[in-house]
Amino acid sequence: MDLTGRTALVTGAASGIGRACATRLAAAGATVRLVDLNREALDELAQRGIGEPHHVDLTDLDAVDTVARGVDIVVNNAGVQTVCPVHEFPPERFSMMVKLMLEAPFRIVRAALPHMYARNWGRIINISSVHGLRASAYKSAYVAAKHGLEGFSKVVALEGAPHGVTSNCINPGYVRTPLVEQQIADQARAHGIPASDVVETVLLARSPIKRLIEPAEVAEMVAYLCCPEASFINGASLTIDGAWSAS
Ligand SMILES: NC(=O)c1ccc[n+]([C@@H]2O[C@H](COP(=O)([O-])OP(=O)(O)OC[C@H]3O[C@@H](n4cnc5c(N)ncnc54)[C@H](O)[C@@H]3O)[C@@H](O)[C@H]2O)c1
Repeated sequence: MDLTGRTALVTGAASGIGRACATRLAAAGATVRLVDLNREALDELAQRGIGEPHHVDLTDLDAVDTVARGVDIVVNNAGVQTVCPVHEFPPERFSMMVKLMLEAPFRIVRAALPHMYARNWGRIINISSVHGLRASAYKSAYVAAKHGLEGFSKVVALEGAPHGVTSNCINPGYVRTPLVEQQIADQARAHGIPASDVVETVLLARSPIKRLIEPAEVAEMVAYLCCPEASFINGASLTIDGAWSAS
């Protein structure tokens, strides 16, 4: 696959899945805009030739508009998790998570589409989650934001189709990233069990394949969606969950 001449924007590029996506798209020849809060990690990636660092807080929606103009590929990836029962969930945290994982993707896509329509080609790839399709207790803001992202992605798929723009969600189960490592501690607290039991008995309880997914496996799906053979995949939710959601 050759993405020479294409510009890709990857949010949350400093860590985990975003980092793997940025690395993969750069290897395919794309110019990559690396967007994240973590300036140090972005600079390190830029020094390795992975892309251009853009130190942006995605909850600052006006800054988001500026960084998204003129790109051919969008990977809406940045996200955070909070594990807390609904009746104790801090309202300001709920608002922030919806802003980061639903409103920022909307603003990015809104700013990116005119350039994509002008070139009659574009790829919107939303890193959703199994939690975009299924719920889990204690994850109200995350599940709500990801379900919203699923709906938004499908609308963009319909509007973008006549302009050569596809929009899809990727729905991983648990991926080996810092976000999951943090959750292991939070889940241990919420369920009152030792952290050592969380991966098998909580995280992977519904997964027939008992291992975490590697970030590079998600990045490979992102790369595939950018290739010409994927032009008919549109409005889809592509699970990478080891058959978790099949049960
Ligand atoms: N790890 C998993 O198991 C898993 C599973 C399914 C879906 N996902 C989704 O994949 C995406 C990436 O997750 P990850 O596991 O790689 O997480 P991660 O914590 O490793 O990386 C997330 C990145 O987002 C950045 N970020 C957070 N808030 C930001 C903000 N306001 N502005 C700019 N950048 C910000 C962080 O600095 C970090 O670099 C998320 O949307 C997550 O919901 C993850």
